[in-house]
Amino acid sequence: MTNILAFSGSMRKGNTEALTEAFLTGCKKVKGIKTKHIKLRQLKPKEECGNDECWHREKCSVKDSLSPLLEKIKETDALVLATPNYFNSVSGIFKTFIDRTNPYCKNRRFEGKKTCLIVAGGHSQEANEKAMSYLREFARIHRLNVIEEIKILAEKKDDVQKNRKLMKETEEKGKKFAEKLNG
Ligand SMILES: Cc1cc2nc3c(=O)[nH]c(=O)nc-3n(C[C@H](O)[C@H](O)[C@H](O)COP(=O)(O)O)c2cc1C
Repeated sequence: MTNILAFSGSMRKGNTEALTEAFLTGCKKVKGIKTKHIKLRQLKPKEECGNDECWHREKCSVKDSLSPLLEKIKETDALVLATPNYFNSVSGIFKTFIDRTNPYCKNRRFEGKKTCLIVAGGHSQEANEKAMSYLREFARIHRLNVIEEIKILAEKKDDVQKNRKLMKETEEKGKKFAEKLNG
């Protein structure tokens, strides 16, 4: 089995989650692929504790329902990281997720994971590029191997869900992504 773990960081069941689900639906069309979608809003993760000692440690001292999932990233084959564009960056809850990965940096625990980055934002694709470049920076620091990026202009809650063509295209991208994992 090839495992894909997705983390999405919207506070609503909207565009980011719809894109992530469509992408994973496409991934699952490839034989041997197993996916899991973690909606951070449902976990209500605790904030990182502010003690930078975790940089030198193996694990975060903060314990909650996100903790085992951060550990799980080490064993997963590929990642999907999805956020809405908030002020040309990631959402607050996605930033919490990012900060909680601090103990996994120094020892390169996530190095080389094949990754897809997803941004949904309502203003413009130029604005979404700013949020995407922040996600890219996170990927660079963890030495992730980004092989797909999806940036979508969407504002109202169901803009993505209503766009059947976009949903199909995103599924197709997911399928291609998964094929690269097996190949
Ligand atoms: C607090 C907040 C800040 C936002 N900032 C931006 C922004 O800077 N640029 C932008 O294009 N859209 C911005 N938006 C709009 C969202 O990115 C847009 O509605 C998107 O579709 C949300 O994705 P979701 O449906 O997955 O939550 C913002 C929305 C919120 C709630």
